[in-house]
Amino acid sequence: MLGFSFLRCYNKFYMKQFPHNFLWGAATSAHQVEGDNFHNDWWLAEQNHALREASGQACRHYELYAQDFQIAKELNHNCHRFSIEWSRVEPEDGKFDFSAIEHYRHVIANLKDQGIEPVVTLLHFTNPVWFSQKGGWAKFKLQKYFLRFVNKIVGEFAGEVKFWITINEPLVYSSHSFLLGAWPPKEHSLFKTAKVTLNLANAHIKAYRIIHKIYRDKSLNRPMVSISANLQAFEICRPTLKNRLAVYLRHKLYNLYFIDELKRKRTLDYIGVNYYGRNLADVEKWGIKHLLLDTCPYNHHPLRKNSLGWDIYPQGLYKLMIALKKYNLPILITENGVCTEDDNLRWDYIREHLEELFKAMEEGVEVLGYIYWSLMDNFEWDKGFGPRFGLVHIDYRNQKRTIKPSARKLAQVAQSGEI
Ligand code: BGC
Repeated sequence: MLGFSFLRCYNKFYMKQFPHNFLWGAATSAHQVEGDNFHNDWWLAEQNHALREASGQACRHYELYAQDFQIAKELNHNCHRFSIEWSRVEPEDGKFDFSAIEHYRHVIANLKDQGIEPVVTLLHFTNPVWFSQKGGWAKFKLQKYFLRFVNKIVGEFAGEVKFWITINEPLVYSSHSFLLGAWPPKEHSLFKTAKVTLNLANAHIKAYRIIHKIYRDKSLNRPMVSISANLQAFEICRPTLKNRLAVYLRHKLYNLYFIDELKRKRTLDYIGVNYYGRNLADVEKWGIKHLLLDTCPYNHHPLRKNSLGWDIYPQGLYKLMIALKKYNLPILITENGVCTEDDNLRWDYIREHLEELFKAMEEGVEVLGYIYWSLMDNFEWDKGFGPRFGLVHIDYRNQKRTIKPSARKLAQVAQSGEI
């Protein structure tokens, strides 16, 4: 009796056992790893020197994917998230490149042959040049082109794919590209940002319905369709009214707006969550811009940081999981990761986030899996190749892959399900 309760106690406090069917994996996105994505808006902006670095050959993953998936297998991953590059599949308006479709067919087959569940993103920040030249996401009527691409791709791969992510981080895209001017098309317009955001929400709703219809027509089991929402842990720096209001508004707008909208339209089968860390609000003056954007410029309430200076805050993941409980939908962590040269920090980051995730699961949050960002070091958008998020180190001079120790530790957890 005593032995049994001791064991129960031990299990409760020390051994954290994830469910046996939990998904363990890592993510990439096409433009960040494939290389030579000639036909998208990022490539064009890179050639025009509008960005710090050009993606160039990136990790040559378009050619080396089989080698990379072998590594994922060796690391006991049972799922893998990647994106299909729209501009490869449809380099010209209405002209589909069948060799690109065949390529992605092989990518999916390669994963499935190894027992790795594909989690497929349909839009991860990049657009075909022809689409952006027509006006891109700032024009409402152009979403029909994205829906045509969705229809094509899902029609091709419905039988092979269960998990779809229509759009990666819609709000990050609209704000970086249309408000902050950091990403192509580098605009600074609040009006356009709002328009793009609504357009993306609408595109998801329609894409969701298209995907489900295709599965129904083919008499396939229901797919799991979502977006990847970028969630941040908004915290106050000083306990002022402005700061409290800022945190409330940011959480409602940045974290929950999309999920609320899509849930209301019944177009989420799960919630894809990308979580990196804390946003410490410190608002100097009244005004919507300050309430939505001001952060503490001093090192108040210091935390460990990644190499881009973002605050590492594992407890935030727990808090967000609890906040999402009200939606009554399963959650898939579609990104969580750290860029650092210190691989011990990477492992601490992963372990601590898994512990917080587990705590939320013990409190009834249904989590389907944990996907680390990223399988390999890659092209970090406007920050170039400097930040290293990968479980696998890439030597960009010769494309040599080297598995980092943190990846091996995560592999043990993926194998045993224990942390
Ligand atoms: C994006 C990735 C990016 C990562 C790290 C996410 O916002 O989906 O493309 O590399 O964060 O910044």
